[in-house]
Amino acid sequence: MLQTYEQAEKKLKALGQEHLLRYYAELSEDGKAQLLSQIDELDEVYLDAFSKKDSLSLPEQKEITPIDVMCAAEIESRREEFLARGISAAKEGKIAAVLLAGGMGTRLGADGPKGTVDIGVTRHVYIFQRIFENLSESADAAGRSLHLFIMTSESNHDETVSFLKEHRYFGYDPEYVHFYRQEMAPAVDRSGRIILESRGRIASSPNGNGGWFRSLLKAGYGSLIEDQGIEWLNVFSVDNVLQRICDPVFFGAVLESGLPSGSKVVAKSSPEERVGVMCNKGGRPAVVEYYELTDSMRYEKRPDGSYAYYYGVILNYLFRIRDLEEADGKGMPIHFADKSIAAWDPVSGQTVKSKEPNGWKFEYFIFDILNSLDGCLPFEVIRDREFAPVKNASGPDSPETARELLRKNGIEI
Ligand code: UTP
Repeated sequence: MLQTYEQAEKKLKALGQEHLLRYYAELSEDGKAQLLSQIDELDEVYLDAFSKKDSLSLPEQKEITPIDVMCAAEIESRREEFLARGISAAKEGKIAAVLLAGGMGTRLGADGPKGTVDIGVTRHVYIFQRIFENLSESADAAGRSLHLFIMTSESNHDETVSFLKEHRYFGYDPEYVHFYRQEMAPAVDRSGRIILESRGRIASSPNGNGGWFRSLLKAGYGSLIEDQGIEWLNVFSVDNVLQRICDPVFFGAVLESGLPSGSKVVAKSSPEERVGVMCNKGGRPAVVEYYELTDSMRYEKRPDGSYAYYYGVILNYLFRIRDLEEADGKGMPIHFADKSIAAWDPVSGQTVKSKEPNGWKFEYFIFDILNSLDGCLPFEVIRDREFAPVKNASGPDSPETARELLRKNGIEI
């Protein structure tokens, strides 16, 4: 922790970012302490990546090839075998869950954290509630509680923690629920200067859904994971109200495969559907975005007549921890997003949001974790049974479509 102005100044000088202290003298004592703490947490890794942005040659184009998917029919025929293997490993406590709840939920536009949104009609059905209900099913099957790590962000942490406390973790054992904050990344202007959003606050945002493992270790949970003998993490997004968490069949199938990771996938509704699909890139598992697929790839078929690139990811992955540790050491790529960032305007004395993009935010992508691993089992699930995302306020992937799918699956809402 940086205790003094001098220490902060020294750090910023080395980074060429001394302007962040320009209004320091005008801040309250609290404001001063908060700015010093933000400067303390400032990770040079983003600025470093930004400074190399233009000098870097284009990333080598890795060859995209199809990946073998374990289809629903095969899963069904081996269900009992996978289930037994998954349950036995879960009983030994080898699996834990990681809920990614650090996103901003901009498209949904709800007031609080996305998980606190109530999509019920005749009763309360909070998004978080669905997650605890789904996790409880797997815990019941294993005959024990499974650890759940919840990644929040700076801006939604307190609200998330108090909401879940207030709702008594929807009946789940609180000893098995662990919160941690996702690291924040600073935003920079066109010339790479960190933006001040007010006189005493650096503009920053959560560092993307690929930052979850680093942040988990940084929060000090490595020893709990080791002490508890947890070997696998099931990482999933907050907004799919139908997903199975620590699903023993999925877990068993990935264990049987001997691969270091697994990804739940759903068949596309048509070759044109705009979702990221599983593939191999440079011989390692990856996700190819819909806009990266050429027409010939989109319609390419395998010898058995099935489409070669047809299984979309739903952000539900299993990772073997020891492989993540190795992959993390290699350094993950940082992505730059061109955004409109609210900035302090010393002339008007106000924070102003520009209409046009005026700077860059930094993000890690979870896809890049996959591509650093030696293999992945894409595991097909039936879309209508396991995929009900709440992304938008209305239209596709909204509370309305999620309600419909919950009803279809016999879940009272
Ligand atoms: P999305 O990409 O859907 O982003 O996140 P979002 O923030 O929820 O929604 P929009 O794009 O602003 O509308 C997929 C999952 O990754 C998590 C989200 O909470 C969600 O579970 N996530 C995303 C993080 O935990 N941290 C991030 O920095 C970004």
